[in-house]
Amino acid sequence: MKVCVIGTGYVGLVTGAVFADLGNDVICVDNNKGKVEKLKKGVMPIYEPGLEEMVRRNYEDKRIDFTSDLAAGVAKSDVVFIAVGTPPAADGSTDLSYVEAVAKEIAIHMNKYKIIVNKSTVPPGTGEFVRNTIEKNQPKKIDFDVVSNPEFLKEGTAIRDSYNPDRVVIGAPSQNIAMALVELYAPLEAPMLITDVASAEMIKYASNAFLATKISFINAVANVCERIGADVGLVAKGMGSDKRIGKEFLMAGLGYGGSCFPKDTLSLIHTSKKFGEDFHILHSVVQTNDERTPRFISRIKETMGSVKGKKFGVLGLAFKPDTDDMRDAKSVEVINALHAEGAKFAAYDPISVENAKPMLPKDVEYAEYAAEVAKDADALIIMTEWKEFQGLNLEEIKASMKQPLIFDGRNIYTLDRMERLGFDYVSIGRRPLISKS
Ligand code: NAD
Ligand code: UGA
Repeated sequence: MKVCVIGTGYVGLVTGAVFADLGNDVICVDNNKGKVEKLKKGVMPIYEPGLEEMVRRNYEDKRIDFTSDLAAGVAKSDVVFIAVGTPPAADGSTDLSYVEAVAKEIAIHMNKYKIIVNKSTVPPGTGEFVRNTIEKNQPKKIDFDVVSNPEFLKEGTAIRDSYNPDRVVIGAPSQNIAMALVELYAPLEAPMLITDVASAEMIKYASNAFLATKISFINAVANVCERIGADVGLVAKGMGSDKRIGKEFLMAGLGYGGSCFPKDTLSLIHTSKKFGEDFHILHSVVQTNDERTPRFISRIKETMGSVKGKKFGVLGLAFKPDTDDMRDAKSVEVINALHAEGAKFAAYDPISVENAKPMLPKDVEYAEYAAEVAKDADALIIMTEWKEFQGLNLEEIKASMKQPLIFDGRNIYTLDRMERLGFDYVSIGRRPLISKS
């Protein structure tokens, strides 16, 4: 099938690469010319495990190409995916200006019947909005259909998720129209759910909001565990063993960040309100999440007293492991808040440092390797659960610090191990290990 994907970000580029890998003829369009030039040279604009190799292989085999010429991309394709950003507006609603701009351009350059597929996360009703925008801007009437095909991949495992989706959701005006996408996804042998357009759009928001709810729920449980001396890891294990609850997304920590849960929860609240419903639960989910970093910062200050002049070693900057994405990363909130009170920082992240630099104070030092941040540190702060932090030589780290104190926002070490090694260790939803002296 001839496929055009507009927007070569985390979703568009992975989607384009996977469709090409499945044997389709894919053209990826981005209005950022620098990105397109880099992609043509095999340089990825984002870090995503396995992506570079997949793009390179398909580019060499001429199954995928990159252009900033939307007209050419649309003209040669039967199916056109919209995968541009849908950032939050100031009032929590979704800024659809990128989607609208693309819809207008598609309208102008449409040369024959096309299926236009919304892969961007967009509020219910956007399918209709895209249809109207295209109709209004077509120089002459050409038939087309608009389909919603929300994306459920996670950053860091995007290729694996795309190849093995739990479900593919296709929201189409009719079964017939849906069949083109069924054909495209058939090689994945994944369960497919065909719905109307509005239901597909709602499935995406409801799924992200429900996952965010699980995270805020376990974080609220963690707060109580800290008071009563229980261990949130054991509580999550006990809860998650019930198949009706499920083990996933019960990791207590600094709350959900990244480019999606924060904006999508706000957007669902906004959409509900627009249609006369108050989504009470989601207000609490957002509030619980907003309280995570202030609470963590308070615990740091309660433990250390004033942080003025104290040196912190920070392990991890990205919003989660295996990505270079710094959008809504908790490290930014924590570092900036403590820096404002006079703290100093040495930070390490395996891949997100260049993206992090513009978001952090200028005097933050960046280490070449993880253990380097411990040198003369008054405390370590673990912000992202990168696998490599599990394997650190904690004895050496302890020896190089001014005092053996760790604040762990992701619970990557066991209390037994930290007690044995003689660290003071403050983690999430577990009793703090603080020596008396
Ligand atoms: P992104 O910001 O990484 O990428 C968007 C791309 O679109 C950019 O490269 C930008 O240059 C390009 N673009 C913007 N306007 C354009 C135009 N007029 N013409 C051509 N290109 C244009 O965004 P993303 O993270 O890939 O997210 C895209 C959408 O997918 C959002 O709606 C998001 O909510 C949704 N989503 C994201 C993820 C994720 O893990 N990041 C997962 C599922 C769904
Ligand atoms: C999330 C969803 O998991 C994807 O299904 C969805 O497609 C995507 O949003 C989207 O719509 O963009 P992503 O943001 O890449 O994917 O990452 P997640 O692994 O879901 O993590 C999101 C945030 O929640 C991170 O800050 C992570 O640290 C946090 N989290 C996750 C927890 O605090 N606890 C958990 O148990 C799981």
